[in-house]
Amino acid sequence: MISLKGRSFLTLKDFTKDEILYLIDLAGHFKKLKKEHVLHDRLKGRNVALIFEKTSTRTRSSFETAAHDLGMGTTYLDPKSSQIGKKESIEDTARVLGRMFDGIEYRGYGQEIVESLAEHSRVPVWNGLTNEYHPTQILADMMTIREHMGDLEGRTLAYMGDARYNMGNSLMIGCAKLGVNFHAVAPKKYFPDEELVAKCREWAKSSGAEIVLTEDAKEGTKDADVVYTDVWVSMGEPDEVWEERIEDLTPYRVTMDIMKNAKNEAIFMHCLPAFHDLDTEIGKEINKKFGLTCMEVTDEVFESYQEAVFDEAENRMHTIKAVMAATLADDWEI
Ligand code: CP
Ligand code: NVA
Repeated sequence: MISLKGRSFLTLKDFTKDEILYLIDLAGHFKKLKKEHVLHDRLKGRNVALIFEKTSTRTRSSFETAAHDLGMGTTYLDPKSSQIGKKESIEDTARVLGRMFDGIEYRGYGQEIVESLAEHSRVPVWNGLTNEYHPTQILADMMTIREHMGDLEGRTLAYMGDARYNMGNSLMIGCAKLGVNFHAVAPKKYFPDEELVAKCREWAKSSGAEIVLTEDAKEGTKDADVVYTDVWVSMGEPDEVWEERIEDLTPYRVTMDIMKNAKNEAIFMHCLPAFHDLDTEIGKEINKKFGLTCMEVTDEVFESYQEAVFDEAENRMHTIKAVMAATLADDWEI
């Protein structure tokens, strides 16, 4: 019997393969209940705080709808309206919120902030994205791959782009633990941190996964089951880095040629939001300045492969629900 009650969910490094698979199975159970309109509000009377120091569409909506489905109340603290970090330390904030709420979600900057919240609040804390990790996203990603392919072990995920930030790091950890081969396909300076790569290679030894870092886009995506990418400039990074990123990462854009180089039945994945057209403010600005009509993925790939991408977005909600449910209570019948 797996019990995660009382645990925080800060990075997948802290979780075993069986624990991760348990969360994905629980998410599948909740997804089924939701589709059948079966109430699952066992956590009625509880309350969670949702702290967002960076913007969000999916993660915030997922935490709110998932908490409400479980019967819980939510309080959203946005980047401007709380005292966090400006007038009150993280430690004091944690001690206050821990007295009022049953769990706390945090999205923001350094991983040490979410770690500190967890250390001082005495309630489960959930990482809704930091600079270093995005663990709830990986649960949704793995759930989506399994739904589309039927299994995970032995599959190959090629990650193209900035592989040393939250998405690259977390996907590498998730893949290493679950036996999915991970290819970081990027210029060398965007490879994940060596220490983390070494750790992942350790986990990969027992799961059977292979961790490959390559600058060769063709070799890195050859026969991949999943081609994955993310924005080239992440939230919180300065605008000045755009020029360099565009120059460095344009050869690693996901194009139809890349998809043809992957397996026939390969899927394309993206954590979203994505710059695949000119229908965004930033997309338009970049177009004016650098002449690009898309960035990390072409519009053709995005639209042709959109099914898995939006399944992935939906699965954020089911997996986040599983994380809250499993860390707040025991004995969920799957
Ligand atoms: N993928 C993801 O975390 O999306 P949001 O930034 O919209 O939450
Ligand atoms: N790397 C991106 C992920 C967004 C979900 C960012 O941090 O902005």
